[in-house]
Amino acid sequence: MPAEVTVLCAVSGPDETDVVLALGAPGAGTSVTRRCGDLAELLAAAAAGAGTVAVVSADLPGLDREAVGRLHGAGTRVVAIADDGPVDRLRALGVEAVLEGAADPRLLDAVRDTARVEDPLATHELDLSALSGGAPAAPARPGTVVAVWGPVGAPGRTTTAVELAAELAGLGGHRAGRRRRRQETPDRQDGSALLVDADTYGSCIASRLGLLDDAPGLAAVARAAGHGTLDLAALARHAPVVAGRLRVLTGITRAARWPELPASALEVVLEGARSLADWTVVDCGPLVEADELLMYDTHAPQRNGATLAALQAADVVVIVGAADPIGIQRLVRGLEELAEAPVPVPATRVVVANRVRPSAVGPDPVRAVSEALVRYAGVEPHPVPDDGDALDAALLAGRTLAEHAPSSAARRAFAELAVLVRDRVGAPVPA
Ligand SMILES: Nc1ncnc2c1ncn2[C@@H]1O[C@H](COP(=O)(O)OP(=O)(O)O)[C@@H](O)[C@H]1O
Ligand SMILES: [Mg+2]
Repeated sequence: MPAEVTVLCAVSGPDETDVVLALGAPGAGTSVTRRCGDLAELLAAAAAGAGTVAVVSADLPGLDREAVGRLHGAGTRVVAIADDGPVDRLRALGVEAVLEGAADPRLLDAVRDTARVEDPLATHELDLSALSGGAPAAPARPGTVVAVWGPVGAPGRTTTAVELAAELAGLGGHRAGRRRRRQETPDRQDGSALLVDADTYGSCIASRLGLLDDAPGLAAVARAAGHGTLDLAALARHAPVVAGRLRVLTGITRAARWPELPASALEVVLEGARSLADWTVVDCGPLVEADELLMYDTHAPQRNGATLAALQAADVVVIVGAADPIGIQRLVRGLEELAEAPVPVPATRVVVANRVRPSAVGPDPVRAVSEALVRYAGVEPHPVPDDGDALDAALLAGRTLAEHAPSSAARRAFAELAVLVRDRVGAPVPA
């Protein structure tokens, strides 16, 4: 006879007793090891290894995607009891099974079946049926996610992310339309791009593009994703069109707000973004280590979680380094850090050497930087010249280079970068 399934019960209201009695009945094959009064108690019991399955009420305060992820991380599978609530929302939290009420006759089967799930973390899947609002899945191929990362020292991650997104959105090809349209129809346009500011240290895309009064769109959609209520219309609403076919999800307004961008929510947002735009370009923070894991025995939120989620979700990673002796050294170390990152980072990469100039590395700067990076990191960089005039003017105007300085040297280099990125992921070149 198989061992009894240990169950942590966090059911609210008068049904709790019925659920506990049903799970503890002789021959049920299940036994309740803890009756938890709240989420904190449930998480502690799971962390202590007290249960294989948690049976939870949908209205358990604090139950969100992050909490379900922590239960899974502790090896505890989750069965949720819906009670009139929306089943889609619960599924979007990543739970293994949803029951229609405490009296649902499938309770025991659901608990026993769920206990057989081998690795709950691996099945912490993205159920995005709610995202499409129940509509059939978009026929187009899912959009591509590009993470733009680089080490500390302001090598130009944001600049690269903004300009790359603008090029992928084909901004240079036509005059930019009226700015900041609230285009709520979530239909994905051909050649559309979504720029996401996920830097939890120095978020600045809103000011870079002159969107000073905006509430952080990314925090808003991350909150909805955490609660399992994000749909495509909400994603579109929080990501206004700033020019042409370029949408922006602005970042947190104060660095201290980083806990609003947990990885568990970002992964949902980025998966949803694939239905909203052909290209999603994420401006990441500079750090990739999960240092918090080393400092606490218990779970702690991770400041670098947003960056790690972007790197993990990405189809291609653009790695930006500054083209001077210090920047190159940091870039070489950064590439090593990526190799040791706590999440799998895709091998499809493009390395950018930014602000290439003779004053920093000698008379033939492109060759000097390229030789150094081939030698010390085995990578051939894509050079972007130092072009302070064009970038300063674009910043002053709150516009992209493609709009404001289309014939500048830096703009040409970013346009070539977009071609490189398209080639790397095998995306068709637009007509
Ligand atoms: N190719 C370039 N030429 C001249 N200035 C640049 C270039 N790339 C970036 N900059 C400037 O360097 C500064 C830092 O760039 P930014 O993209 O914000 O760095 P990061 O996001 O890595 O911190 C900005 O003022 C930006 O305009
Ligand atoms: Mg930046």
